[in-house]
Amino acid sequence: MPSNRPLFIVAIDGGAASGKSSTSRALCRRFNFLHVDTGSHYRALTAALLAENTGPEDTARVVAALARLPVGTAVSGNEARITVAGRVIPDAELRAPAVNAAVSGFAAIPELRAALLAYQRGQAAVAEERGFHGLIMEGRDIGSVIFPGAQLRVFLHADPEARARRRALEGQSDSIAERDRRDSTRTTAPLVCPDGAVSIDSTRLTLDEVVGKIAALIGEGMTAR
Ligand code: C5P
Repeated sequence: MPSNRPLFIVAIDGGAASGKSSTSRALCRRFNFLHVDTGSHYRALTAALLAENTGPEDTARVVAALARLPVGTAVSGNEARITVAGRVIPDAELRAPAVNAAVSGFAAIPELRAALLAYQRGQAAVAEERGFHGLIMEGRDIGSVIFPGAQLRVFLHADPEARARRRALEGQSDSIAERDRRDSTRTTAPLVCPDGAVSIDSTRLTLDEVVGKIAALIGEGMTAR
């Protein structure tokens, strides 16, 4: 049931393993917001394209394949999941080493980003239709490109060692430094801390502390409206 208050949009950007997902999930549960992880959008398209033997170097083939792969949304609890050709791709496939290795290459293709831009902005309507009080979207370009007018924009960062440790604890093999390098140096929508975003260094903070800081900002922002 749509509410009569405008949706409260929070953009959380940061590099690989900077703590965006755990933080966003905890905040969404606390405030009854919809959580949208845009990294999973790039991962889902990467998995679907790799499954049909299309690599990031063949842009024409990627563009043709995208036309055959419609995206949609499945909401479960506070979580919005992308569907590709009607299918929610399981996490194990989204986090497979082949996807980790190729995703930044696909994410640098302007046509692929353009296809996801409209889809990602459309998640605000999904949140409204489902009666959520707000939306937290995490990624690399949310505060800079997707929702530059978001009520709150946060940039999370942490030392490379802390981030590598977090991934190792999750049992994942992921070259986070290399992905960050590619994501920061690409021409279209590079990973940047946008002007005016609140920057939080989580290297020496617990998850609860990071959540607490952002929750306080959301609380202030919602009261001020
Ligand atoms: O957040 P996660 O590490 O799952 O993102 C996977 C990849 O998707 C990133 O390394 C980046 O190449 C791409 N991405 C992006 N823009 C976003 C979110 C993710 O380019 N907003």
